[in-house]
Amino acid sequence: MTTARIAIDRTAVVAPLNRRIFGSFVEHLGRCVYDGIYEPGHPTANEDGFRLDVVELVKELGSSTIRYPGGNFVSGYRWEDGVGPKENRPVRRDLAWHSLESNQVGTDEFARWCKLTGSELMMAVNLGTRGIEAALDLLEYANHPSGTALSDQRIANGSPEPHDIKMWCLGNEMDGPWQTGYMTADDYGKLAARTAQAMKAADRNLELVVCGSSGSSMPTFGDWERTVLEHSYEHVDYISCHAYYQERKGDLGSFLASSLEMQYFIETVVATADHVGNKLRSKKKIQLSFDEWNIWYLEEHQASDEVNDEWRFAPRQLEDVYSVADAVVLGNLLMTLLKNHDRVTSASLAQLVNVIAPIMTEPGGDAWRQTTFFPFSVTSRLAKGDVLRPRIEVGTYETEVYGAAPLVDAVATADAESGTSALFLVNRSQTDSIEVTVDLASLDASSITEAVTLHDDDVYAKNTIDDRERVGLRELSGASLADGVLTVTLPPVSWSALAFA
Ligand code: AHR
Repeated sequence: MTTARIAIDRTAVVAPLNRRIFGSFVEHLGRCVYDGIYEPGHPTANEDGFRLDVVELVKELGSSTIRYPGGNFVSGYRWEDGVGPKENRPVRRDLAWHSLESNQVGTDEFARWCKLTGSELMMAVNLGTRGIEAALDLLEYANHPSGTALSDQRIANGSPEPHDIKMWCLGNEMDGPWQTGYMTADDYGKLAARTAQAMKAADRNLELVVCGSSGSSMPTFGDWERTVLEHSYEHVDYISCHAYYQERKGDLGSFLASSLEMQYFIETVVATADHVGNKLRSKKKIQLSFDEWNIWYLEEHQASDEVNDEWRFAPRQLEDVYSVADAVVLGNLLMTLLKNHDRVTSASLAQLVNVIAPIMTEPGGDAWRQTTFFPFSVTSRLAKGDVLRPRIEVGTYETEVYGAAPLVDAVATADAESGTSALFLVNRSQTDSIEVTVDLASLDASSITEAVTLHDDDVYAKNTIDDRERVGLRELSGASLADGVLTVTLPPVSWSALAFA
């Protein structure tokens, strides 16, 4: 049997865990909002029309920060359309997704939804068709306590308390030719700097995210980050990263190693940001907000989505159904974010409901968990305290895209307060179980309190509308802990988690 050795050093701390790493994303896109989180006629709907069965699943998923309202949608959005009496709200065309927007959910409703789910709202402003004034107006509407035109309007609209939104995204993917109002790095960098400066004049405690490249395969990747930060460095706190992965042409081996691409992406953006910061002799470090990441079978959608020349409300768009292999990759991507947590301090799984999402719903029906739900929810529940980077000794396998890829990846957390710790593992081998020996002595763990795995003999098994519980977590049998040494066997193509006390 293939073997691996892992050593965990309690002092090899990447960073204390910031729960913003478990963020997600709700965009006005397809059925994410309408017929997703919001369905007034649904048996579980509350007075705002929000489905409480979905709220329960969002809580179980354990997502922290929720980015809203887009995505590409935000670049044509007028936030004013979504506040005030619902009967007066206009229907608009959403050019980003070629659909109709009823505006029945807007800032105030979404802020209430975040409270219901226990999450933090992360707001994006429109720098595509709009600019500084609209951003400042939204900030005043959302965050100013009272006594100004827009804060009093919010109060009159039924939200007496300010929403107190701390994190703000300065537009979305402004380098992408698909983005309404996309720009050059120079133009965007200047606009982002001016918008950020104005927003911080209103509240210097805001945390602002400037747009990085919309992907590491963009021809301007790297140059975009450098130019944008040269303009905006001292005014912003984060730069965004977006990445979607998929299995291409049946190459499962490369797909299972997608984390290597994410690692390259993170290292490149950190190096670029630090280059600019050092050149400016700045005292601060820019953080990474990985505010869109997921598996997305993008090419397949062009053929199958319910989008045509008609204008429709909430068409079914980007409704990927995820396999076990997808979930294993997603679990590994989350591990990679954690392993880089000293610089990636915020992240958003894109998206949350129906649209490339861990949670699916049917109108009038129930809500269920996709395969990708499980690694996210378990990691969010078990990871606590400090994130630790383990030392891993393991063989490699050859991939077409990345060359040699390690067969096993791992990350750990340890919490001094509760005395608990956790270990997350992935086996990328398609053929072999791997026996892993883990030196845990420095964690002072005496017992295994939980051991679960996501694995199926059919790596393409999915939870479908007709078989919603086909795939779930199983107990990881045979794990043993003696004298500070854990022995565990990881099935092929699996993601696993163990907790210790
Ligand atoms: O998450 C789906 C879309 O992907 C977002 O709207 C956009 O920002 C990205 O291209």
